[in-house]
Amino acid sequence: MSGAADPSRTPEVPQEQPSQQPPARLPRWLNVRCTSRGGARLHIRPLRAEDAARERAFIDGLSPASLSQRLLGTIREVTDEQVAELVRPDWPRRLALAALSGDAITGDGIIGVARFDVSERPGSAEFAIVVADHWQRRGVGHALFHRLVRAARLAGYRELVGTTFAVNREMIELARSHGFEVGPEEGEPSLRRLTLPLQAA
Ligand SMILES: CC(C)(COP(=O)(O)OP(=O)(O)OC[C@H]1O[C@@H](n2cnc3c(N)ncnc32)[C@H](O)[C@@H]1OP(=O)(O)O)[C@@H](O)C(=O)NCCC(=O)NCCS
Repeated sequence: MSGAADPSRTPEVPQEQPSQQPPARLPRWLNVRCTSRGGARLHIRPLRAEDAARERAFIDGLSPASLSQRLLGTIREVTDEQVAELVRPDWPRRLALAALSGDAITGDGIIGVARFDVSERPGSAEFAIVVADHWQRRGVGHALFHRLVRAARLAGYRELVGTTFAVNREMIELARSHGFEVGPEEGEPSLRRLTLPLQAA
């Protein structure tokens, strides 16, 4: 996954101007306490610079399989500079939305992150998402993803796209359930392109 996965990439301003200007401040519904469909109690909020240590711990706790699915096998280690970039806010060009556990035992650690970032295609944003292994299949991905899609629309993008391994049934099903089309990735038979056209909010 190029844009959203590569924190060293310098994003450009979306070239296609949205018909409505995105709000200068992040909307309140991006900072909520909620219960996932699977019963997990979550605090969902945008990441900020102070979250670098939490993001580092989250990435370091991922299994090699989840990290590889998230980064499509491109990077094996994420540097501290990349972590700092991953938590740097830059709304409306990009958003990193975290789910933190409201659990008394695990504290307020990050258990999932969904993000979008401007892509090279005008008007298009690229997403990425990953949920901590032992939290998967409890609705955390869904809780993050549906807010991410809504936020990308509000940010003025015309489409949200992502790339996943063709064998990643979990990601493909999550994307399909949010209306994404699943298509081939040119020249990459092991990958699938996930595309969602976004209408104005
Ligand atoms: C893809 C991923 C983010 C899903 O997160 P999650 O928290 O497990 O997802 P949810 O529990 O919210 O499930 C969302 C939907 O995904 C689908 N899904 C999840 N696991 C599935 C599985 N094993 N088989 C089929 N569908 C599955 C279902 O449609 C599910 O909807 P449901 O609530 O009706 O069951 C998670 O598996 C993950 O982090 N994988 C590693 C990183 C990755 O692959 N990222 C994608 C590339 S960017």
